[in-house]
Amino acid sequence: MGSSFGGYCLLATYGIIYIRVKMVKATQLNFTEALEKILVSVWGTSKNYLSDSLIAKTRASLVAVREAYRYHGSSPSRINFKPKKNRAGYIAAFGQQHALLSYLHMSRVAAANPSVLPVPENYNNELVLTLVGAGMALESYGICLYYNKVSQRVKKLRLNLIDKVGDWSSNRQTMIDRLLKVKFSKLSVIPNEITVDLRKDCLQDFVKQHDSLANTDILVIYNVMNEIQEVHALNVWKNVDFLIRICRRPLLILLMEPSALKTVPRVEWIKTQLVQCADLVLTNNHEEFYFDAEPAIIGFENTGDGLYDRLYGNTTSSLTTSLRRNHLSVLVKPRSPISYEQMTKQLLELKNKRTKSGQYRRVRRTDGFQESLWHSNPDWLNQ
Ligand SMILES: C[S@@+](CC[C@H](N)C(=O)[O-])C[C@H]1O[C@@H](n2cnc3c(N)ncnc32)[C@H](O)[C@@H]1O
Repeated sequence: MGSSFGGYCLLATYGIIYIRVKMVKATQLNFTEALEKILVSVWGTSKNYLSDSLIAKTRASLVAVREAYRYHGSSPSRINFKPKKNRAGYIAAFGQQHALLSYLHMSRVAAANPSVLPVPENYNNELVLTLVGAGMALESYGICLYYNKVSQRVKKLRLNLIDKVGDWSSNRQTMIDRLLKVKFSKLSVIPNEITVDLRKDCLQDFVKQHDSLANTDILVIYNVMNEIQEVHALNVWKNVDFLIRICRRPLLILLMEPSALKTVPRVEWIKTQLVQCADLVLTNNHEEFYFDAEPAIIGFENTGDGLYDRLYGNTTSSLTTSLRRNHLSVLVKPRSPISYEQMTKQLLELKNKRTKSGQYRRVRRTDGFQESLWHSNPDWLNQ
Protein backbone atom coordinates (compact mmCIF):
# COMPACT_ATOMS: atom_id res chain seq x y z
CA MET A 1 0.00 0.00 0.00
CA GLY A 2 2.78 2.36 1.14
CA SER A 3 4.88 1.66 -1.93
CA SER A 4 1.98 1.95 -4.38
CA PHE A 5 1.05 5.27 -2.77
CA GLY A 6 4.69 6.32 -3.17
CA GLY A 7 4.48 5.16 -6.77
CA TYR A 8 1.39 7.31 -7.38
CA CYS A 9 3.11 10.33 -5.82
CA LEU A 10 6.14 9.76 -8.05
CA LEU A 11 3.92 9.32 -11.11
CA ALA A 12 1.93 12.43 -10.25
CA THR A 13 5.12 14.45 -9.75
CA TYR A 14 6.68 13.25 -13.01
CA GLY A 15 3.33 13.68 -14.71
CA ILE A 16 3.21 17.33 -13.68
CA ILE A 17 6.82 17.88 -14.75
CA TYR A 18 6.07 16.19 -18.08
CA ILE A 19 2.97 18.32 -18.67
CA ARG A 20 4.95 21.47 -17.78
CA VAL A 21 7.74 20.54 -20.19
CA LYS A 22 5.17 19.79 -22.91
CA MET A 23 3.34 23.08 -22.36
CA VAL A 24 6.53 25.13 -22.51
CA LYS A 25 7.74 23.21 -25.55
CA ALA A 26 4.51 23.80 -27.47
CA THR A 27 4.88 27.58 -27.39
CA GLN A 28 8.65 27.82 -27.77
CA LEU A 29 9.66 29.53 -30.96
CA ASN A 30 12.84 31.30 -31.84
CA PHE A 31 11.46 33.69 -34.42
CA THR A 32 14.73 34.59 -36.09
CA GLU A 33 15.73 30.95 -36.33
CA ALA A 34 12.43 30.29 -38.12
CA LEU A 35 13.04 33.32 -40.32
CA GLU A 36 16.40 31.88 -41.35
CA LYS A 37 14.70 28.63 -42.42
CA ILE A 38 12.23 30.67 -44.47
CA LEU A 39 15.09 32.57 -46.12
CA VAL A 40 16.80 29.28 -46.87
CA SER A 41 13.63 28.16 -48.66
CA VAL A 42 13.47 31.42 -50.62
CA TRP A 43 17.06 31.07 -51.82
CA GLY A 44 16.36 27.41 -52.57
CA THR A 45 19.49 26.05 -50.91
CA SER A 46 19.63 22.51 -49.55
CA LYS A 47 21.28 23.59 -46.27
CA ASN A 48 19.45 24.27 -43.05
CA TYR A 49 21.08 27.68 -42.52
CA LEU A 50 22.39 30.59 -44.58
CA SER A 51 26.03 30.19 -45.58
CA ASP A 52 28.33 33.22 -45.39
CA SER A 53 27.85 33.93 -49.08
CA LEU A 54 24.05 33.78 -48.76
CA ILE A 55 24.21 36.06 -45.71
CA ALA A 56 26.18 38.55 -47.85
CA LYS A 57 23.61 38.27 -50.68
CA THR A 58 20.68 38.66 -48.26
CA ARG A 59 22.31 41.67 -46.67
CA ALA A 60 22.82 43.34 -50.07
CA SER A 61 19.17 42.61 -50.99
CA LEU A 62 17.76 43.96 -47.76
CA VAL A 63 19.71 47.19 -48.16
CA ALA A 64 18.38 47.52 -51.74
CA VAL A 65 14.76 46.83 -50.67
CA ARG A 66 14.94 49.34 -47.85
CA GLU A 67 16.44 51.89 -50.24
CA ALA A 68 13.52 51.37 -52.64
CA TYR A 69 11.02 52.15 -49.88
CA ARG A 70 13.02 55.10 -48.69
CA TYR A 71 13.12 56.78 -52.14
CA HIS A 72 11.88 60.30 -51.62
CA GLY A 73 10.49 60.99 -55.11
CA SER A 74 6.80 60.79 -55.91
CA SER A 75 6.71 57.49 -57.83
CA PRO A 76 5.58 54.40 -55.93
CA SER A 77 8.00 51.97 -54.35
CA ARG A 78 7.35 49.10 -56.69
CA ILE A 79 9.31 45.99 -56.01
CA ASN A 80 9.14 43.01 -58.30
CA PHE A 81 8.80 40.01 -55.98
CA LYS A 82 9.38 37.41 -58.68
CA PRO A 83 13.19 37.38 -58.27
CA LYS A 84 14.10 35.50 -55.11
CA LYS A 85 16.66 38.11 -54.10
CA ASN A 86 13.86 40.67 -53.68
CA ARG A 87 11.72 38.27 -51.67
CA ALA A 88 14.71 37.41 -49.48
CA GLY A 89 15.65 41.08 -49.02
CA TYR A 90 12.07 41.96 -48.11
CA ILE A 91 11.75 39.16 -45.54
CA ALA A 92 15.12 39.96 -43.99
CA ALA A 93 14.34 43.67 -43.80
CA PHE A 94 10.71 43.55 -42.65
CA GLY A 95 9.68 39.94 -41.99
CA GLN A 96 9.49 40.01 -38.21
CA GLN A 97 8.19 43.58 -38.08
CA HIS A 98 5.36 42.79 -40.50
CA ALA A 99 4.48 39.61 -38.64
CA LEU A 100 4.09 41.59 -35.42
CA LEU A 101 2.39 44.71 -36.85
CA SER A 102 -0.92 42.88 -37.06
CA TYR A 103 -0.60 41.87 -33.39
CA LEU A 104 -0.08 45.52 -32.40
CA HIS A 105 -2.91 46.62 -34.69
CA MET A 106 -5.33 44.06 -33.20
CA SER A 107 -4.39 45.22 -29.70
CA ARG A 108 -5.19 48.83 -30.62
CA VAL A 109 -8.50 47.84 -32.21
CA ALA A 110 -9.39 45.85 -29.08
CA ALA A 111 -8.62 48.88 -26.92
CA ALA A 112 -10.79 51.11 -29.14
CA ASN A 113 -13.79 48.76 -29.40
CA PRO A 114 -13.43 45.08 -28.44
CA SER A 115 -16.89 44.23 -29.77
CA VAL A 116 -15.71 44.60 -33.39
CA LEU A 117 -13.23 41.75 -33.12
CA PRO A 118 -14.39 38.49 -34.70
CA VAL A 119 -15.19 35.77 -32.18
CA PRO A 120 -13.74 32.45 -33.48
CA GLU A 121 -15.80 30.54 -30.91
CA ASN A 122 -18.93 31.52 -32.87
CA TYR A 123 -17.70 29.44 -35.81
CA ASN A 124 -16.25 26.35 -34.08
CA ASN A 125 -12.97 28.14 -33.39
CA GLU A 126 -12.44 28.86 -37.06
CA LEU A 127 -11.01 32.15 -38.30
CA VAL A 128 -11.00 33.16 -41.96
CA LEU A 129 -8.46 35.73 -43.07
CA THR A 130 -8.34 37.21 -46.55
CA LEU A 131 -5.00 38.85 -47.21
CA VAL A 132 -4.85 41.37 -50.05
CA GLY A 133 -1.27 41.57 -51.39
CA ALA A 134 -0.49 38.63 -49.13
CA GLY A 135 3.19 38.20 -49.91
CA MET A 136 4.35 35.59 -47.45
CA ALA A 137 1.18 35.99 -45.34
CA LEU A 138 3.13 37.04 -42.27
CA GLU A 139 0.15 39.10 -41.08
CA SER A 140 -1.52 35.83 -40.12
CA TYR A 141 1.14 35.26 -37.45
CA GLY A 142 0.33 38.44 -35.48
CA ILE A 143 -3.41 37.81 -35.68
CA CYS A 144 -3.03 34.25 -34.38
CA LEU A 145 -0.71 35.54 -31.69
CA TYR A 146 -3.40 37.98 -30.61
CA TYR A 147 -6.10 35.30 -30.38
CA ASN A 148 -4.04 32.38 -29.07
CA LYS A 149 -1.79 34.23 -26.64
CA VAL A 150 -3.50 32.80 -23.57
CA SER A 151 -5.58 29.89 -24.82
CA GLN A 152 -6.18 28.28 -28.17
CA ARG A 153 -9.13 30.30 -29.41
CA VAL A 154 -8.37 29.76 -33.09
CA LYS A 155 -8.05 26.10 -33.97
CA LYS A 156 -8.66 26.26 -37.70
CA LEU A 157 -7.19 29.09 -39.74
CA ARG A 158 -8.39 29.55 -43.31
CA LEU A 159 -6.22 31.85 -45.40
CA ASN A 160 -7.37 33.38 -48.68
CA LEU A 161 -4.11 34.60 -50.17
CA ILE A 162 -4.55 37.22 -52.87
CA ASP A 163 -1.38 38.23 -54.68
CA LYS A 164 -0.23 38.80 -58.24
CA VAL A 165 3.04 36.90 -57.66
CA GLY A 166 2.60 33.14 -57.48
CA ASP A 167 6.28 32.63 -56.57
CA TRP A 168 5.44 33.30 -52.90
CA SER A 169 3.51 30.05 -52.71
CA SER A 170 6.21 27.61 -51.56
CA ASN A 171 7.72 30.22 -49.21
CA ARG A 172 4.30 30.63 -47.61
CA GLN A 173 4.15 26.92 -46.97
CA THR A 174 7.52 27.17 -45.19
CA MET A 175 6.13 30.10 -43.17
CA ILE A 176 3.11 27.97 -42.20
CA ASP A 177 5.29 24.97 -41.25
CA ARG A 178 8.13 26.82 -39.55
CA LEU A 179 6.30 29.69 -37.88
CA LEU A 180 2.57 29.14 -37.47
CA LYS A 181 2.68 25.43 -36.75
CA VAL A 182 5.65 25.70 -34.40
CA LYS A 183 4.22 28.57 -32.41
CA PHE A 184 0.65 27.26 -32.43
CA SER A 185 1.18 23.53 -32.45
CA LYS A 186 -2.46 22.53 -32.65
CA LEU A 187 -3.47 25.04 -35.28
CA SER A 188 -4.71 23.64 -38.56
CA VAL A 189 -4.00 25.98 -41.47
CA ILE A 190 -5.82 25.82 -44.78
CA PRO A 191 -4.31 28.08 -47.43
CA ASN A 192 -6.22 29.08 -50.55
CA GLU A 193 -4.13 30.74 -53.24
CA ILE A 194 -5.79 33.36 -55.42
CA THR A 195 -3.23 34.64 -57.91
CA VAL A 196 -4.64 37.81 -59.47
CA ASP A 197 -3.52 41.31 -60.31
CA LEU A 198 -5.74 43.78 -58.47
CA ARG A 199 -5.20 46.39 -61.16
CA LYS A 200 -7.34 44.23 -63.45
CA ASP A 201 -10.92 43.07 -63.12
CA CYS A 202 -10.67 40.06 -60.77
CA LEU A 203 -14.39 39.41 -60.27
CA GLN A 204 -14.43 36.22 -62.34
CA ASP A 205 -11.63 34.78 -60.21
CA PHE A 206 -13.30 35.91 -56.99
CA VAL A 207 -16.64 34.41 -58.02
CA LYS A 208 -14.90 31.04 -58.46
CA GLN A 209 -13.77 31.33 -54.82
CA HIS A 210 -17.03 32.83 -53.60
CA ASP A 211 -17.73 30.53 -50.67
CA SER A 212 -14.28 30.74 -49.27
CA LEU A 213 -14.14 34.54 -49.61
CA ALA A 214 -17.68 35.17 -48.35
CA ASN A 215 -16.83 33.70 -44.94
CA THR A 216 -14.00 36.14 -44.32
CA ASP A 217 -13.75 37.42 -40.75
CA ILE A 218 -10.84 39.80 -41.27
CA LEU A 219 -9.81 41.42 -44.54
CA VAL A 220 -6.19 42.48 -44.23
CA ILE A 221 -4.74 45.07 -46.61
CA TYR A 222 -1.13 45.55 -45.52
CA ASN A 223 1.72 47.18 -47.41
CA VAL A 224 0.20 46.69 -50.82
CA MET A 225 -1.66 49.89 -51.76
CA ASN A 226 1.72 51.58 -51.52
CA GLU A 227 2.78 49.54 -54.53
CA ILE A 228 -0.21 50.29 -56.76
CA GLN A 229 -0.38 53.59 -58.60
CA GLU A 230 -3.53 55.62 -58.04
CA VAL A 231 -4.47 55.44 -61.74
CA HIS A 232 -5.60 51.88 -61.01
CA ALA A 233 -7.90 52.93 -58.16
CA LEU A 234 -11.10 52.19 -60.10
CA ASN A 235 -10.31 48.51 -60.69
CA VAL A 236 -8.72 48.01 -57.29
CA TRP A 237 -11.84 49.37 -55.62
CA LYS A 238 -14.16 47.27 -57.77
CA ASN A 239 -12.27 44.20 -56.56
CA VAL A 240 -12.07 45.18 -52.89
CA ASP A 241 -15.70 46.32 -52.89
CA PHE A 242 -16.77 42.92 -54.20
CA LEU A 243 -14.94 41.21 -51.33
CA ILE A 244 -16.79 43.46 -48.91
CA ARG A 245 -20.23 43.06 -50.47
CA ILE A 246 -20.22 39.27 -50.45
CA CYS A 247 -19.34 38.94 -46.77
CA ARG A 248 -21.71 36.80 -44.71
CA ARG A 249 -20.10 37.45 -41.37
CA PRO A 250 -19.35 40.80 -39.74
CA LEU A 251 -16.16 41.83 -41.48
CA LEU A 252 -13.29 43.62 -39.78
CA ILE A 253 -11.06 45.38 -42.29
CA LEU A 254 -7.50 46.18 -41.25
CA LEU A 255 -5.49 48.48 -43.48
CA MET A 256 -1.89 49.40 -42.76
CA GLU A 257 0.53 51.14 -45.11
CA PRO A 258 3.81 53.06 -44.79
CA SER A 259 3.13 56.65 -43.78
CA ALA A 260 5.75 58.35 -45.98
CA LEU A 261 4.38 61.44 -47.74
CA LYS A 262 4.77 59.92 -51.22
CA THR A 263 2.34 57.10 -50.32
CA VAL A 264 -0.54 59.48 -49.52
CA PRO A 265 -2.13 59.51 -53.02
CA ARG A 266 -2.07 55.71 -53.13
CA VAL A 267 -3.54 55.18 -49.68
CA GLU A 268 -5.94 58.02 -48.87
CA TRP A 269 -8.47 57.23 -51.61
CA ILE A 270 -9.11 53.71 -50.31
CA LYS A 271 -9.37 54.94 -46.72
CA THR A 272 -12.04 57.41 -47.86
CA GLN A 273 -13.92 54.69 -49.72
CA LEU A 274 -13.78 52.29 -46.78
CA VAL A 275 -15.03 54.84 -44.28
CA GLN A 276 -18.01 55.55 -46.55
CA CYS A 277 -19.17 51.96 -46.69
CA ALA A 278 -18.33 50.79 -43.15
CA ASP A 279 -18.25 51.87 -39.52
CA LEU A 280 -15.01 53.52 -38.51
CA VAL A 281 -13.24 51.87 -35.59
CA LEU A 282 -9.84 53.49 -35.53
CA THR A 283 -7.55 55.52 -37.78
CA ASN A 284 -4.20 57.24 -37.60
CA ASN A 285 -2.16 58.68 -40.47
CA HIS A 286 1.15 58.65 -38.75
CA GLU A 287 1.66 56.29 -35.87
CA GLU A 288 4.97 54.87 -34.78
CA PHE A 289 4.75 51.18 -33.84
CA TYR A 290 7.52 50.04 -31.49
CA PHE A 291 8.63 46.46 -31.15
CA ASP A 292 9.88 46.79 -27.62
CA ALA A 293 7.40 44.95 -25.41
CA GLU A 294 6.40 41.32 -25.07
CA PRO A 295 5.24 39.51 -27.10
CA ALA A 296 6.33 41.89 -29.86
CA ILE A 297 10.01 42.42 -29.19
CA ILE A 298 12.62 42.62 -31.94
CA GLY A 299 16.30 42.80 -31.12
CA PHE A 300 19.69 41.34 -31.79
CA GLU A 301 20.29 37.93 -30.36
CA ASN A 302 23.78 39.01 -29.22
CA THR A 303 24.96 35.45 -29.55
CA GLY A 304 27.24 36.23 -32.47
CA ASP A 305 25.65 33.59 -34.67
CA GLY A 306 21.98 34.63 -34.62
CA LEU A 307 20.42 35.72 -37.91
CA TYR A 308 20.29 39.44 -37.10
CA ASP A 309 23.79 39.38 -35.60
CA ARG A 310 25.12 37.96 -38.87
CA LEU A 311 22.99 40.18 -41.13
CA TYR A 312 23.64 43.47 -39.39
CA GLY A 313 26.98 42.98 -37.68
CA ASN A 314 29.65 45.26 -39.21
CA THR A 315 27.15 47.10 -41.43
CA THR A 316 26.11 50.72 -41.46
CA SER A 317 22.42 49.84 -41.85
CA SER A 318 20.59 49.01 -38.65
CA LEU A 319 17.87 46.65 -37.57
CA THR A 320 14.49 48.40 -37.69
CA THR A 321 12.81 48.22 -34.30
CA SER A 322 9.94 50.60 -35.02
CA LEU A 323 7.80 51.40 -38.08
CA ARG A 324 5.70 54.46 -38.86
CA ARG A 325 2.35 53.54 -40.30
CA ASN A 326 -0.83 54.99 -41.77
CA HIS A 327 -3.63 52.72 -40.58
CA LEU A 328 -7.37 52.27 -40.55
CA SER A 329 -9.80 49.73 -39.19
CA VAL A 330 -13.49 49.54 -40.05
CA LEU A 331 -16.32 47.12 -39.49
CA VAL A 332 -18.71 46.04 -42.22
CA LYS A 333 -21.97 44.43 -41.25
CA PRO A 334 -23.26 41.81 -43.69
CA ARG A 335 -25.95 43.02 -46.03
CA SER A 336 -29.27 41.24 -45.96
CA PRO A 337 -32.94 42.14 -46.07
CA ILE A 338 -33.02 42.02 -42.30
CA SER A 339 -30.84 44.10 -40.03
CA TYR A 340 -27.63 42.78 -38.58
CA GLU A 341 -28.94 43.40 -35.04
CA GLN A 342 -32.06 41.33 -35.78
CA MET A 343 -29.92 38.57 -37.22
CA THR A 344 -27.61 38.49 -34.19
CA LYS A 345 -30.57 38.45 -31.82
CA GLN A 346 -32.15 35.56 -33.64
CA LEU A 347 -28.85 33.67 -33.87
CA LEU A 348 -28.49 33.95 -30.10
CA GLU A 349 -32.06 32.80 -29.66
CA LEU A 350 -31.39 29.82 -31.90
CA LYS A 351 -28.33 28.89 -29.90
CA ASN A 352 -30.37 28.88 -26.76
CA LYS A 353 -32.86 26.51 -28.29
CA ARG A 354 -30.51 23.55 -28.51
CA THR A 355 -31.47 20.14 -27.21
CA LYS A 356 -29.36 18.45 -24.56
CA SER A 357 -27.52 16.47 -27.24
CA GLY A 358 -26.47 19.80 -28.79
CA GLN A 359 -28.86 19.71 -31.79
CA TYR A 360 -31.00 22.69 -32.69
CA ARG A 361 -34.58 22.36 -31.73
CA ARG A 362 -37.27 23.50 -34.14
CA VAL A 363 -38.75 26.68 -32.76
CA ARG A 364 -42.10 28.12 -33.72
CA ARG A 365 -41.54 31.72 -34.58
CA THR A 366 -44.00 34.49 -33.98
CA ASP A 367 -42.26 37.09 -36.18
CA GLY A 368 -42.56 35.26 -39.51
CA PHE A 369 -38.78 35.16 -39.94
CA GLN A 370 -37.42 32.28 -42.00
CA GLU A 371 -34.08 30.76 -41.16
CA SER A 372 -33.11 30.31 -44.81
CA LEU A 373 -32.92 34.09 -45.15
CA TRP A 374 -29.82 34.16 -43.03
CA HIS A 375 -27.53 33.24 -45.83
CA SER A 376 -26.31 36.05 -47.98
CA ASN A 377 -28.04 36.15 -51.32
CA PRO A 378 -26.23 37.82 -54.23
CA ASP A 379 -29.52 39.42 -55.39
CA TRP A 380 -29.52 41.60 -52.31
CA LEU A 381 -26.17 43.05 -53.10
CA ASN A 382 -27.63 45.57 -55.47
CA GLN A 383 -30.17 46.87 -53.02
C1 LIG B 1 5.31 44.74 -49.77
S1 LIG B 1 4.55 43.22 -50.04
C2 LIG B 1 3.50 43.08 -48.60
C3 LIG B 1 3.34 41.67 -48.18
C4 LIG B 1 2.55 41.53 -46.89
N1 LIG B 1 1.21 42.03 -47.03
C5 LIG B 1 3.24 42.22 -45.75
O1 LIG B 1 2.69 43.17 -45.19
O2 LIG B 1 4.35 41.82 -45.42
C6 LIG B 1 3.36 43.66 -51.26
C7 LIG B 1 2.70 42.47 -51.89
O3 LIG B 1 1.64 42.96 -52.71
C8 LIG B 1 1.68 42.29 -53.95
N2 LIG B 1 1.11 43.17 -54.97
C9 LIG B 1 1.60 44.35 -55.42
N3 LIG B 1 0.81 44.85 -56.39
C10 LIG B 1 -0.20 43.99 -56.53
C11 LIG B 1 -1.33 43.93 -57.40
N4 LIG B 1 -1.55 44.87 -58.31
N5 LIG B 1 -2.17 42.88 -57.31
C12 LIG B 1 -1.94 41.90 -56.40
N6 LIG B 1 -0.90 41.88 -55.57
C13 LIG B 1 -0.02 42.91 -55.64
C14 LIG B 1 3.15 42.01 -54.19
O4 LIG B 1 3.35 40.94 -55.09
C15 LIG B 1 3.63 41.69 -52.79
O5 LIG B 1 3.55 40.33 -52.51
